[in-house]
Amino acid sequence: MTRALGVCYYPEHWPEDVWEQDASDMVKAGLTWVRIGEFAWARMEPTPGDIQLDWLDRSIAILGKAGLKVVLGTPTATPPRWMADKHPDMFAVDENGHVRGFGSRRHYCFSHQGFRAESRRITEILAKRYGNNPHVAAWQTDNEYGCHDTTLSYSDAAKDAFQDWLAQKYQSTAALNRAWGNVFWSMDYDEFDQIGLPNLTVTEPNPSHALAFRRFSSDQVVAFNREQAQIIKAHSDAPLIHNYMGRITDFDHYDVGADLDIASWDSYPLGFLEDRMEDGDAHKRAYAQQGDPDLQAFHHDLYRAVGKGRWWIMEQQPGPVNWAPVNPAPLPGMCRLWAWEAFAHGAEAVCYFRWRQAPFAQEQMHAGLLRSDREPAPALAEAAQVARELTQIPDCGTTNASVGLVFDYASAWAWEVQPQGTGFDYFRIVFETYRALRKLGLDIDILPPNCADLTAYKLVLAPGLLALSDDLKNALTAFNGVAVIGPRANSKTEELTIPTPLPPNLPKLDLTITRSETFRADMDRPLQGSGHIRHWLDHVDTNAPVLEHTKAGDPVLIGNGPIRYLAGWLDETALDRVLTNICAEQQIETTPVQDGLRIRRTDTHVFAFNYGLETATFQGQDIPSAGVYWAPK
Ligand code: GAL
Repeated sequence: MTRALGVCYYPEHWPEDVWEQDASDMVKAGLTWVRIGEFAWARMEPTPGDIQLDWLDRSIAILGKAGLKVVLGTPTATPPRWMADKHPDMFAVDENGHVRGFGSRRHYCFSHQGFRAESRRITEILAKRYGNNPHVAAWQTDNEYGCHDTTLSYSDAAKDAFQDWLAQKYQSTAALNRAWGNVFWSMDYDEFDQIGLPNLTVTEPNPSHALAFRRFSSDQVVAFNREQAQIIKAHSDAPLIHNYMGRITDFDHYDVGADLDIASWDSYPLGFLEDRMEDGDAHKRAYAQQGDPDLQAFHHDLYRAVGKGRWWIMEQQPGPVNWAPVNPAPLPGMCRLWAWEAFAHGAEAVCYFRWRQAPFAQEQMHAGLLRSDREPAPALAEAAQVARELTQIPDCGTTNASVGLVFDYASAWAWEVQPQGTGFDYFRIVFETYRALRKLGLDIDILPPNCADLTAYKLVLAPGLLALSDDLKNALTAFNGVAVIGPRANSKTEELTIPTPLPPNLPKLDLTITRSETFRADMDRPLQGSGHIRHWLDHVDTNAPVLEHTKAGDPVLIGNGPIRYLAGWLDETALDRVLTNICAEQQIETTPVQDGLRIRRTDTHVFAFNYGLETATFQGQDIPSAGVYWAPK
């Protein structure tokens, strides 16, 4: 597998006479891919039906002639202003009933049939024109589905589509009433067109109603993407990609990914640390210019699963961004480190965002590889260095993990609908588990909830998983390693009701949860060994051996066979101890690492990345802050 670098480029932002120089400078820097087009609808179609693509033809020709491969984006994330006159009700509506208007981007509702037709139309125009273009070597559908909170829309179009979706799913309102338990508070419906969206209710809506709306909203994204995918596939053999984001769980990325060839994601480590992580100030200060040491790797592994093995970074932070509460510059070396870490996790390409800083509009304070005056910005030299290094190590092998960690989007929705305690965040519990595994120097595969084969793994974990799929249940029944399931796992039906028999109903484990409790963030429960339980504790009835107890005597880790139940949310100390013990017992080799150091092995190489501020040592080598080390295995 060859690895390559690329960049995001906006020819429509610059006079045409600089395009050729830009293309040759990209090649000089060692770049292979260039993504264009994804926000250019108003230039492609300035007035309804007036298709103007000569500029795009010329731009693709110039980039291609220079030797670059083009990723062409469909422009549907930015419908032009005239579209709003044509379809005045195409806008998404927020939970409070406010229309989300024109003047930025992503101002469409996924359920609006008029806009869906416009999306198919422009996609078909592009697919027909460029489907056989030798320089268009990949396609991107839309841009960052769900960005700016745009998956959920409470519009009339969404309500109509939701009613249709419910009618297809339940066939009768009697079945729906039964499934949701609408007898409670006299919420029964006689007709599907009586069912509203679960916003603006007096107090909380029925959780089954709210979860159904989340599933529906995800399906709308899938359907929107599928329409574009099918159209492009009819005209082009080039692979289809979407660029997902960090810590966005509003739609099921596995479902979207099923219609595409490659997953990609947009990695902004410094922005995410400040904007999307709940770690305390000390952690944020320690990693302010490097990013969280595990957040990027988590998403690399997640999107490798979403892409069924094939994945890219479509946008890589190149310097300060503009959108986080504070926007520091990366430490020298980080733009190189982030790229290498992606390659070590199997990325086929890493594209920096963006080629040249824009001097105008919303992102004028966002760095690029070049400054807005066309002079190099610091990341250009780092990108060029990675490009040179890639010629020395073009194939760094594929993934080879012995630990699997289940990640499921519906679980994230379910616990947002029914948190039962402010601390219970699904992404967070999975991510903390991932971080603890990484601190032991382990390589991890993220597994989808319908994973049917666990034979590659010695250890599998599924914290907070809403419901076990039949596939996963069968795979667990046949599993020879150790699976740690819980807390709060298999605790609800797909409808968000309590199942019978009572949870967790796991194969090969005699265990019933009798009740669950949540507690204040400042009232952690100490364990008999080191560490504490936070946020959540399932109380259980069991005859199975208990390996961990709280100081008060509550069972916490239950079972000593292949299936074990974890009844509480372990803090870092407890998680480290419990995982270390299981790894020792299962003869899984661990390599506990210093603070900011992280390790990643492929089948051919071992890599080490130093996110810390101090020099770290690995395999007898000093690795400076922001440094990367690799060696053949
Ligand atoms: C991404 C987006 C880009 C740009 C970038 C800025 O979320 O896809 O278009 O806005 O962020 O960091």
